[in-house]
Amino acid sequence: MELREWAIHILSADRIEDKLFDPSHFSDFNPGPAIFWNEPTRPPGMQFSRHTRKKDKLPPFQDHHHPDNRAICLHRFAGHELLAVEIMAFALLAFPDAPRQFRMGLANTLREEQVHVKLYMEQMERLGLKFGDLPLFKHFWKQTEYLTSPIDYVSMMSLTFEMANLDFAPHYGASFKRNGDIDAYNLMKQILTDEISHVRFGMRWIQKLKQADPDAFELYKESISPHLPIKRARGFVFQEEPRRAAGVPDHWIEALKNPTTHQTALISS
Ligand SMILES: [Fe+2]
Ligand SMILES: [Fe+2]
Repeated sequence: MELREWAIHILSADRIEDKLFDPSHFSDFNPGPAIFWNEPTRPPGMQFSRHTRKKDKLPPFQDHHHPDNRAICLHRFAGHELLAVEIMAFALLAFPDAPRQFRMGLANTLREEQVHVKLYMEQMERLGLKFGDLPLFKHFWKQTEYLTSPIDYVSMMSLTFEMANLDFAPHYGASFKRNGDIDAYNLMKQILTDEISHVRFGMRWIQKLKQADPDAFELYKESISPHLPIKRARGFVFQEEPRRAAGVPDHWIEALKNPTTHQTALISS
């Protein structure tokens, strides 16, 4: 199947099976003209809900002993994975002129995100929840107007949202393990491993795509949406090791350790 055809299939699908369809072989002979997809079609019951900070807060860690609360977390994470699937399909359509290797790498990452959705679905179903039982949010789709180049894409997805998961995945995984849920813990472990390679994809391509001079971190800061402060690239407990494994340079890691100071400096400069 052609990447373009696959991406359109995903974005216009109204059944979860089609969002998660894996053609097993894909080609990219005809990337076609750029399409900037406005909003994805969603299966019934999986449309975007309005997110309210208070009402839609995830259950606190001290309540993870209750399986319903772990299921709520897994449902939210599955929602993020589905958004990642769709944004990757968006990028395949938006950037037909990107290097072939970039597009193939992106397609492989998309495939892994589809697997993540399936794995989260299995785990939440084990705990009695079905995907779509709880509200799903628009999050990443709110930023697509700022996705105008492959550099913008890696800055937002790989180097912000996926990088933040290098903190969230082990943090939630450890909590699930503490509460005796080894299956959910193992899933978070797999997510972390895959996410390291997705961040590495972003690090590699921001280096490759940038013009000769600018430092990749400077370019990253210029490229992310103005609505995404760099602190969105981290969780509340900062993990250095997976970032090193993903090839994030020292000065980038240091800046993320104190993002507010850094951001204030940026704003005032
Ligand atoms: Fe994922
Ligand atoms: Fe990912």
